[in-house]
Amino acid sequence: MSFLIALPSLASAVVSSSHVLYRTFYPSSINSTSWYSNISPSTYNDSIYQTNTYTSATNAPYGTYDYCTMPHPRADVYQLPAPVANGSVRAELVYLQYIQRHQRRTSYNSLPGGENQAYDCDNVEAFLYASPNGGLPQPQPMHVFGKTYTDPSNPFAANYVKSTCQLPQLTVGGILDGFQHGKDLWSVYGEKLHFLPSVPNSKTWFRSSESVLTQQSAGGVLRGIWPYHTGPVPLHQQPEAVDTTNESFECDRRTTVLSEIENSTEWQSHLEAAAPLFNSLSWASQNESDFTFSFNSFADNFQARLCNGYNLPCNVKNLSQCATMAQAEEIFRGGDWEWNYWYRTNPQALLYTQTVEGPFIAEIIQRLQAVQNGNSSIIYEHDFLHDNDIGPIAGALGITALRWPGMGSNIAFELWKVRGGSIYARVLYSGQPMVTIYGTLDWILLPELIGILQPYAPKNIVQICNNVTNS
Ligand SMILES: *[C@@H]1O[C@H](CO)[C@@H](O)[C@H](O)[C@H]1NC(C)=O
Ligand SMILES: *[C@@H]1O[C@H](CO)[C@@H](O)[C@H](O)[C@H]1NC(C)=O
Ligand SMILES: *[C@@H]1O[C@H](CO)[C@@H](O)[C@H](O)[C@H]1NC(C)=O
Ligand SMILES: *[C@@H]1O[C@H](CO)[C@@H](O)[C@H](O)[C@H]1NC(C)=O
Ligand SMILES: *[C@@H]1O[C@H](CO)[C@@H](O)[C@H](O)[C@H]1NC(C)=O
Ligand SMILES: *[C@@H]1O[C@H](CO)[C@@H](O)[C@H](O)[C@H]1NC(C)=O
Ligand SMILES: *[C@@H]1O[C@H](CO)[C@@H](O)[C@H](O)[C@H]1NC(C)=O
Ligand SMILES: *[C@@H]1O[C@H](CO)[C@@H](O)[C@H](O)[C@H]1NC(C)=O
Ligand SMILES: *[C@@H]1O[C@H](CO)[C@@H](O)[C@H](O)[C@H]1NC(C)=O
Repeated sequence: MSFLIALPSLASAVVSSSHVLYRTFYPSSINSTSWYSNISPSTYNDSIYQTNTYTSATNAPYGTYDYCTMPHPRADVYQLPAPVANGSVRAELVYLQYIQRHQRRTSYNSLPGGENQAYDCDNVEAFLYASPNGGLPQPQPMHVFGKTYTDPSNPFAANYVKSTCQLPQLTVGGILDGFQHGKDLWSVYGEKLHFLPSVPNSKTWFRSSESVLTQQSAGGVLRGIWPYHTGPVPLHQQPEAVDTTNESFECDRRTTVLSEIENSTEWQSHLEAAAPLFNSLSWASQNESDFTFSFNSFADNFQARLCNGYNLPCNVKNLSQCATMAQAEEIFRGGDWEWNYWYRTNPQALLYTQTVEGPFIAEIIQRLQAVQNGNSSIIYEHDFLHDNDIGPIAGALGITALRWPGMGSNIAFELWKVRGGSIYARVLYSGQPMVTIYGTLDWILLPELIGILQPYAPKNIVQICNNVTNS
C-alpha cells in the first residue's frame, strides 16, 4: 500500500501555531517577580485555559496549546512524513504506539481555605462492576455505578468541597472529549491510512495506569475509535505496587533527587519571585506548604475549575474576593517553568527522568525493538496515562521546551517501513512532529530513536532507586 495522497494546503496554518506547544516563557532562572506579572515575554493570549462543561472541541487554530483539550492527530490536518508525502520513498505504517494523558477532570487539590463552588458529576455514571469471565455459567452482574454524595451529618465533610464527584474523576466534558479524540484518531489511522483494524483484535493492545481516571478515559477514547464494537475489551494494568507508570513503583532515589532539584538556587528563586503572588492568594492556601512549595496545587485547582465550566474560586469568608484570571495566568506560567525545569533544564534531569519513567521507557524500547526485529505481534498500542508520564517521555526525547502537558496531550510513535528497506520512526507531540534538540522527529532511523531513549532506561534501575544512603 502506498500513501501518495494529495494533502490539503494547511501546512502554513499548522506550522504557524506549532511554536505555541513549545513556547519557552522564561530563562532557566526566574529571579524577579516581573517574570510572572509582566505579560510581554509571556503572554498567554495564544493559549487556551478555559472551556464549557460540555464542549469537546475548540475552533482555535489547529496546534493551539489548549490545556483543557490538547490537539491530537486529526485527518483534516494530518500530514504524512515529508519523504512519504513527496513520493521520494514508498513506505508503510507498520506500528503505532500512542501514549496520552487522560482527558479533563475534577481537581486533586482542594483549597485549604475552603471551596465556594460545589463540583457536579450528576451528569456522569461511573460504572464499576466485575464479571465472571465468558466461559463460566453466570448471571451478568448488576450494572452498578458510583454516585458520590456528601452527607450533611458527616463532621469531617464540613470544610470539604461540596461535591457529587470524587476528586479527581473524569468530568462529562472529559468523556465527551474522549469520544472526539478517538473519532479523530480513527479519521487518521482508520479511514485515511487504513491501518487500524475495524474491531479491536489480537494486534491491538491497551494499557492504563492503576488510576480510575485513566480507565475512564480509555472507555471514552476507544468508543470514539470503534463506535459499533460490542464486545468487552481488556485494558492492561500492572499491579499498583509495581506499576511502571504514574510514579507508582517504589523508588526512594526519586524522592531524594526531587528534593535536591527543588532545593536548587533556581527553584528557590522562582519561589521567592512568586512570593507576592502566593501572598495575594493566601486566603485560598492558608499559606500551607502544599500550595507554596511549587505551582502544582494552585494550577491543578484552577485548571480543573476553568476546564469544566466553573469560575475561579472565591474566598468562602468573603465572596467578593476571588482569584482573578491574571493571577491564574501567573500560576500557569510558573507551572510551565517547573515542568521544563524538572524534565529538561535542571542538571539532574537525566537521573530524575530515570527514576520517574525509566522502567516504562524501557517497555517502549522493547516494543520498538520488537518491530525492528520483525517480530512484534501487535501493531497498535494505546496507553492511557498521566501528565507525569507524558512530561518525562517528552523530556527524554529532548523536546526543546516543555510546557505542562495538558488534558489529553499525546505522544504518537509511528514506525514506517520503507518498501524493501529500513524502518523509520516519527514522533508526533499533540499531533505534530516533535521539535527536539535532535531536530524535528519527522523521519529518523528507528535505531537512532532507540538510541535517544536508551540512556533514560538504565538496566540497573532498581539499584539506582535504592541508592539513597550514600548520596
Ligand atoms: C537572574 O536571572 C538572570 C536571567 O536568568 C541571570 O542572568 C542573573 O544572573 C540572575 N541574577 C541573580 C542575582 O541570580
Ligand atoms: C498577543 O500579544 C502580543 C504581545 O502583546 C501581540 O503582539 C500579539 O499580536 C497578540 N496575539 C494575539 C493572537 O492576540
Ligand atoms: C522529499 O522530502 C525530503 C524530506 O523533506 C527531502 O529530503 C527530499 O529532497 C524531497 N524529495 C523530493 C523529490 O522533493
Ligand atoms: C497518580 O499520580 C498522582 C499524582 O502524581 C497521585 O496523586 C495519585 O495518587 C496517583 N494515582 C494513584 C491511583 O495512585
Ligand atoms: C539545600 O541547600 C542548602 C544550601 O544550598 C544545603 O545547605 C542543604 O543541605 C540542602 N538540603 C538538601 C536536602 O539538599
Ligand atoms: C500568609 O503569609 C503572609 C506573609 O507571611 C501573611 O501576610 C499572611 O497574613 C498569611 N496569610 C494567612 C492566611 O495565614
Ligand atoms: C472582601 O473582599 C473585597 C475584595 O477583595 C474587599 O474589598 C473587601 O474589603 C473585603 N471585605 C472584608 C469584610 O474583608
Ligand atoms: C525476535 O527477533 C529477535 C532478533 O531476530 C530474536 O532474538 C528474538 O528471539 C525474537 N523473539 C521472538 C519472541 O520471536
Ligand atoms: C549512588 O549514588 C552516588 C551519589 O549520588 C553515586 O556516586 C553513585 O554512582 C550511585 N551508584 C549507582 C549504582 O547509581
